[in-house]
Amino acid sequence: TSMEDAGESTRGCENISDSEEDRCSENDFGTSKLGTKEFWDDAYQKELETFNDIGDVGEIWFGEESMSRVLRWMDKAKIPENAAILDIGTGNGAFLVELAKHGYKNLTGIDYSPASVELARSVLQAEGLTDVTVKEMDFLSCQKELKGFDVCIDKGTFDAISLNPVNTNEGKRQYVQALKDVLKDNGFFAITSCNWTKEQLLDRFSEGFEFVQELSTPTFQFGGKTGNSVAALIFKRVH
Ligand SMILES: C[S@@+](CC[C@H](N)C(=O)[O-])C[C@H]1O[C@@H](n2cnc3c(N)ncnc32)[C@H](O)[C@@H]1O
Repeated sequence: TSMEDAGESTRGCENISDSEEDRCSENDFGTSKLGTKEFWDDAYQKELETFNDIGDVGEIWFGEESMSRVLRWMDKAKIPENAAILDIGTGNGAFLVELAKHGYKNLTGIDYSPASVELARSVLQAEGLTDVTVKEMDFLSCQKELKGFDVCIDKGTFDAISLNPVNTNEGKRQYVQALKDVLKDNGFFAITSCNWTKEQLLDRFSEGFEFVQELSTPTFQFGGKTGNSVAALIFKRVH
């Protein structure tokens, strides 16, 4: 038995097996503290203190490569520099920094954790990137406050929402609805997830979205089976 991981962090992943959701009702989906606001408030409060002390931005969820692979896709898809881009659940804002350094000029990050918002703003400021908007906002109740985005990026946020111990099913539905509302027609959605397989994501984002492509992610072998530790998919908003 071998477990190969090309250096990507899967910390925080619940390692739900492929068929888990088929076997269980949606309610039985594993929940955890990673789905609570308290967890993220606490985590980013600590990361904010560390950043202020030693300038370390903290955890890059799923590793640097998880950002580069989306950026490579954006280059190939010729997403223009002035495209309106939303980072859903931006955390420390590291993706916003990468996007800005890559030349993107119309960037917004949101997060429901005030400590995350403060951290992301501090990280951007330290990089001299003053033209990026970061808002404290719950994506599930952002009612029409956000709209007209060309590209929405999610790295680990739909996962976190899926792990919420309360209102998990409702949360997932609200997420899909909010995403439909904020994206322009033909806008793109780039999701990186460690809790859902490609098939489950295709199923979740079927109505109102068209699958564009899968970005290749490192594979592992375990017990004679081969799988991916994360799924990275691109969807397009369609009517
Ligand atoms: C696994 S972290 C990923 C952070 C960041 N995207 C990254 O890749 O480093 C999940 C993030 O989602 C945020 N989040 C969870 N639920 C949210 C919601 N309903 N609205 C906005 N942000 C949310 C958390 O505060 C946290 O920053």
